[in-house]
Amino acid sequence: MENRTVAVLGAGTMGAGIATVMARAGHHVILFDVSEDNLRRGIDTVHGFFDVSVQKGKLTDEQGRVAKSALHGSTSLADLAHCDVVVEAVYEDLRLKKDIFAQLDDIVSESTLFHTNTSTLSVTGIASGSRRPERVVGTHYCNPAPLMKLVEVADGRHTATWAHDATIRFLASLGKTSVVTKDRPGFIVNRFLIPWENSCIRALEAGLGTRDSIDAAVLGALGHPMGPFRLLDIVGMDIHQQVATRLYEQLRDPRFFPPPMVERMVAAGDLGRKTGRGFYEYDDNRLFGS
Ligand SMILES: NC(=O)c1ccc[n+]([C@@H]2O[C@H](COP(=O)([O-])OP(=O)(O)OC[C@H]3O[C@@H](n4cnc5c(N)ncnc54)[C@H](O)[C@@H]3O)[C@@H](O)[C@H]2O)c1
Repeated sequence: MENRTVAVLGAGTMGAGIATVMARAGHHVILFDVSEDNLRRGIDTVHGFFDVSVQKGKLTDEQGRVAKSALHGSTSLADLAHCDVVVEAVYEDLRLKKDIFAQLDDIVSESTLFHTNTSTLSVTGIASGSRRPERVVGTHYCNPAPLMKLVEVADGRHTATWAHDATIRFLASLGKTSVVTKDRPGFIVNRFLIPWENSCIRALEAGLGTRDSIDAAVLGALGHPMGPFRLLDIVGMDIHQQVATRLYEQLRDPRFFPPPMVERMVAAGDLGRKTGRGFYEYDDNRLFGS
């Protein structure tokens, strides 16, 4: 697929990760955020990822330089006028997401694809903010987006076949594996990931193991790329709490309800990488490693 102009809205954990994916694939990327500080940190995270990729020999110096130069930051929606694809990764707030797509209707072209990275909201509900809901598709990236291959694809009630098919082709061009799912709370992955993460936290609370031994057990026994506490530190405890609570409210299954440790960590500001401390401590300013 030819290089496109891709706008990523929200420069937080997911936005920075998705922007990394887009820049690595050769697209021209505009990373947009309303917060200058968050935008700076998002760009630093993307640059840091490519620097480490070069150090590890995964990219040549030239590939690292080109990928970094593909990324541009913006705090003005007007800069998104020539985007082919918009990937929305702002806070998990229905009104906010609807409002952003409503504003973009007047800025981008009629053929621009709208992707939303929501975890718990209805794609149909988000799409109702746009006058062209047929172009809105749910694309739920796994975190950390540059390292995980899977993207769940969920159509809204009015998503057009052309938008769905174009989305699948676009994701394939990024080297992603798409799994098509329904516009239902938690899609596929969070239906079992959230209860499992809660189980790991409960195991820690019950003293079945330490942070390190539980992470080591998962790495050794289940073959996951990282242990649950390393992963939760990237996800963010605020996000885990929000997603778990919203899925509990919608599904009424107690396995989704976040254990007490989650609330205490959020209250203490120990959100994970984004605040420098979660289950582990971090001395760099990046939202995820490579
Ligand atoms: N964290 C995860 O593991 C994960 C995984 C998959 C999907 N998601 C979903 O991705 C989305 C983003 O999650 P996150 O973890 O990156 O959150 P985050 O809190 O790390 O980042 C959100 C960013 O959105 C920005 N923002 C807020 N309002 C904005 C606006 N009007 N325009 C532009 N930017 C705005 C904030 O400044 C912030 O930088 C949420 O919908 C979340 O449910 C999160």
